[in-house]
Amino acid sequence: MNKSDLINIAKEASKSAHSPYSGFCVGAALLAKGNKVFTGCNVENASFSVTCCGERVALFKAVSENVTHFTEIAIVGGNNEVFTSPCYPCGVCLQALSEFCSPDFKIHLLDGDNIITYTLKELMPHNFDLYKEGNKNA
Ligand code: THU
Repeated sequence: MNKSDLINIAKEASKSAHSPYSGFCVGAALLAKGNKVFTGCNVENASFSVTCCGERVALFKAVSENVTHFTEIAIVGGNNEVFTSPCYPCGVCLQALSEFCSPDFKIHLLDGDNIITYTLKELMPHNFDLYKEGNKNA
């Protein structure tokens, strides 16, 4: 499974997006150790804050099946299947991923026709950690 395969799976997943309010379709393809891919799309709601991003849909599908070790994710987002600029994962999704993924976890995005890759640490240098020194009594 290479990064362009993962991007193509993410594009396919975006076709299932339920986004009647924003019109913005997100697809995610999360690669687990063992080479299984979990897909996700954004699922919007008339009560806007209920919306769930595509990345978390993919993550929660995997965790709900007891899969918790991941190496990379591909994310695309756009209108009418046109993915022009990188769809960076939001802070909520980065925090959700950081619960399970190591700092070197790879995040592949589309930038025009090119794939750009970041590590989780680059996009979220400091995630919230309840058990970190100082938060111990939380
Ligand atoms: N969205 C995602 O699916 N992932 C992100 O990381 C950011 C935003 C979705 C949520 C909403 O359905 C639409 O994009 C517009 O915000």
